[in-house]
Amino acid sequence: MSERFDDTLARQVDAYVERLFVRADPDLDNVLSASAASGLPSISVSPNEGKLLHLLARMAGAHRILEIGTLGGYSTVWLARALPPDGRLVTLEIDERHAEVARRNLARCAVDHLVEVRLGPAMQTLRSMVADRDAPFDLIFIDADKEGYPGYLEAALELARPGTVVLADNVIRGGAVMDPANADAMARAVSRFNQAIATHPRLDSLILPIIRERFDGLSLSIVRT
Ligand code: SAH
Ligand code: DHB
Ligand code: MG
Repeated sequence: MSERFDDTLARQVDAYVERLFVRADPDLDNVLSASAASGLPSISVSPNEGKLLHLLARMAGAHRILEIGTLGGYSTVWLARALPPDGRLVTLEIDERHAEVARRNLARCAVDHLVEVRLGPAMQTLRSMVADRDAPFDLIFIDADKEGYPGYLEAALELARPGTVVLADNVIRGGAVMDPANADAMARAVSRFNQAIATHPRLDSLILPIIRERFDGLSLSIVRT
């Protein structure tokens, strides 16, 4: 169920969509190669998922975006490019080295004036943002440690307004999330997250399948009025 996704047709279709809709982009390529050269894991969103995040942010008319889990800033650049000139993106990262690579990448992509990378455990940063009333955000993208997802959802709702879009990466995990008692703690936590967005009185939600090395998914929620 959670083995690597090796459906050849699905991968070919993903590559077809990427060829059609994701333009060659040396800046974005450079974010990935610079991240790899610095030893960061290659777990950024895929190009198609990056384009999806970008389109969703523009469709939502997002001026203020919150990202939880920066890595080298690949998804950050896709999202920041959806912002208007006076927009703002706050991205939370626990690892100093990741944050440093991301800051360099954001500068090279000329979006650093729009983005603040906040270093520290995300739950702690989120609590101080709630206390400071550093809100609301128009779009919130959750993509950090999977065990944290249920807590990040609660914090995200405190930083949201009616109409805020909440997205989360890796919510299928090769199908492992279908078993709420899965041996993998990450799968169990994400399974709880999925149950929460499915039943939360303040949210309307769905999961879109995402084709990666394994079968995965992006959850989409909107905060009700
Ligand atoms: N959004 C990125 C990928 C993020 S990978 C992209 O698609 O390009 C997940 C990131 O979350 C890693 O950089 C990891 O260091 C960070 N992370 C893990 N636990 C965290 C925590 N408790 N608080 C903040 N960031 C965390
Ligand atoms: C992995 C992929 C991700 O998108 C992520 O945020 C964390 C981990 C992975 O494949 O291990
Ligand atoms: Mg991810």
